[in-house]
Amino acid sequence: MGTPVTRTPPKAGEVLLTVRQVTLRFGGLTSLSEVDLHLDRGEILAVIGPNGAGKTSLFNCLTGVYTPQEGTIEFITADRTPVQLVSGTARRRRSRKPHAVNHAGIARTFQNIRLFAALSAFDNVKIAAETRQRTGPIGAMLRLPHARANERNSDRRTEELLDFVGLRAVADELASSLSYGVQRRLEIARALATDPALLLLDEPAAGTNPTEKRELEGLIRRINSELDVTVLLIEHDMKLVMSVADRVTVLNFGKVIAEGRPEEVQRNPAVIEAYLGSAEEES
Ligand SMILES: Nc1ncnc2c1ncn2[C@@H]1O[C@H](COP(=O)(O)OP(=O)(O)OP(=O)(O)O)[C@@H](O)[C@H]1O
Ligand SMILES: [Mg+2]
Repeated sequence: MGTPVTRTPPKAGEVLLTVRQVTLRFGGLTSLSEVDLHLDRGEILAVIGPNGAGKTSLFNCLTGVYTPQEGTIEFITADRTPVQLVSGTARRRRSRKPHAVNHAGIARTFQNIRLFAALSAFDNVKIAAETRQRTGPIGAMLRLPHARANERNSDRRTEELLDFVGLRAVADELASSLSYGVQRRLEIARALATDPALLLLDEPAAGTNPTEKRELEGLIRRINSELDVTVLLIEHDMKLVMSVADRVTVLNFGKVIAEGRPEEVQRNPAVIEAYLGSAEEES
């Protein structure tokens, strides 16, 4: 990457995100129940669990889409400032809005890809890169010198990110014309363009072919090691989870039922039971 991002070097075991006793209800349905979870700076944590376990709901609570009725979520920014993403008492709940969460240093991709279909791959990333620039709409309209400099920065950053995810060759193609696997990578580039300390990936391997899955595995590792980005990964593909995750947290019916190293979790009877149970329901 051309523009080095100055970050304080990670300390071993330094907590980045703390989710405490988060409960989210939709009417009578409890989507998350007293969820505790933490993420250390620099690690890759996978969240797994059967369909409907609450994985996407957790991302939605982290990113201000939903406000859980109970519990707190704290994030420590790159300059070590604690930010309460979700806080408050039972009567008065507070959660940061999605744009504020992004500004604090958290970016995400979506289970159902959300790109601007009628824009090029380049512009999809550039729009996100521009949110990191200071030019307001008036400065941009008048094309003030600093606005022009910012535009050049956004262009350069976009090119770097497209290179990083291996999509430079399709920069001018419309997002809608790209294959599913390529769109998933483009969404990752777009999330990275906001310069996050934490990247949330919601089933990035869904709908991709085996070659793309292998490429994705490498990409997640490079995002973590070369860009120094902590990763929270929701994924059903166990091979991918087992190969990239430092730690795995398992959700079932909104509850954390296991947490540990991938090989420990894989052997955990409660986890095996949860997956077998859901497979029986489906059959
Ligand atoms: N906006 C909503 N309104 C009502 N119920 C919801 C809403 N969002 C999620 N749920 C419910 O919460 C539960 C958890 O859903 P969630 O999407 O978090 O599961 P998931 O683990 O991401 O599943 P999948 O692997 O299928 O993506 C489900 O029962 C779901 O129907
Ligand atoms: Mg989901």
